[in-house]
Amino acid sequence: MEKKIGKNDPCWCGSGNKYKFCHLGFDEKIEEFRRNGHKVPPRKIIKTPEQIEQIKLSCKVNIAVLDYVGEHIKAGMSTEDINRMVHEKTLQLGGIPAPLNYNGFPKSVCTSINSQVCHGIPSEKDILADGDIINVDVSTIYNGYFSDSSRMYLIGEVSEEKKKLVQVTKECLEVGLQQVKPWGFLGDMGQAINDYAKKNGYRVVREIGGHGVGLEFHEEPWVSYVSRRGREMVMAPGMIFTIEPMVNMGTDEIFIDEDDDWTVYTADGAPSAQWEIMVLVTEEGYEVLCY
Ligand code: MF3
Ligand code: CO
Repeated sequence: MEKKIGKNDPCWCGSGNKYKFCHLGFDEKIEEFRRNGHKVPPRKIIKTPEQIEQIKLSCKVNIAVLDYVGEHIKAGMSTEDINRMVHEKTLQLGGIPAPLNYNGFPKSVCTSINSQVCHGIPSEKDILADGDIINVDVSTIYNGYFSDSSRMYLIGEVSEEKKKLVQVTKECLEVGLQQVKPWGFLGDMGQAINDYAKKNGYRVVREIGGHGVGLEFHEEPWVSYVSRRGREMVMAPGMIFTIEPMVNMGTDEIFIDEDDDWTVYTADGAPSAQWEIMVLVTEEGYEVLCY
C-alpha cells in the first residue's frame, strides 16, 4: 500500500498540482487492479514529465553512440576496439558508460557475438570476422539519468539463416510494441514476442529479461518474454521499461562463462540475437525513447 494523501494535498508525483486534479484517478485505477489480484507498479517507477525529459537527453547520447558504432564497426576490429569507441564517444557527448564497474563489469559496453547471448566482455582477443553477427549493448548515464538500448550489426557477408534471425528478432520488438498501452499487461507484450519467435522456429531465452530504467540502470519491473497474456505487471502511464528479447536459433538453454562470470552462451552453440529498446507508456499508448 502507498501512503494515503488528502485530495487537496500536493500530488505525490511532484507536479505541484492538487492530488485530486493529478494522480487521484490514476491511483484509483491502480487500486482496482490490485484488488483484482494483479501486479501493479509502485509509485517510484512512475516518471514525471521532467524526469522523462531528462531521460530523453540520456537516450539521445545512447542513440548517438550506437550510430557511431554502426558507422565504424567492421571485420578485423576487436571487441575492445568497440569498447574504446563507446567509451570515448560517450564521454565526448557528456555521458558516463553505465556498464563500467556495474556489479564489477570491467568494460564500458557489452559485445555479444554469434552464440553469445548477452553480457559479452570486450577483449583484444575477440576479432570480428566476416559472417559474424554481433549485439552491441550500450547504456549511458547522463546528468544522473539512465538509458539502455542495443542493436545487432552484421559483419561482411552474413548467411541468410543468421540474417533472418536478426530480422525476426527485430520484428519481435515491433509485435511487442503493438501491445504496449496503458492498463494493459506486460504479459500481453511478452506473449506476443514469444508467439512470434516460435512461429518463426526460434526460442526466447527465459532466464534473462528486460527491466524498468531511467532513474536507475535496473528498476522494477523485471520484464519477461515468456510471459502470458493478461499476466504480469499492469502497464501504467509514466512507466519506462526495456523490450530486449534474446532469440535463439536452437535451444533456449543457456550457460554463463565460468571464467569471466558474465558472458552468456547458448547451450548448443547456435546463434542468438537481441535488440533492445526503451519504451514509455503514455496516456494514448507508447513512445519509443531509445532504439
Ligand atoms: N544493458 C544490459 C541490460 O540490458 C546491462 C547488463 S549489465 C552489464 O541489462 F554490467 F553487463 F552492463
Ligand atoms: Co537492458
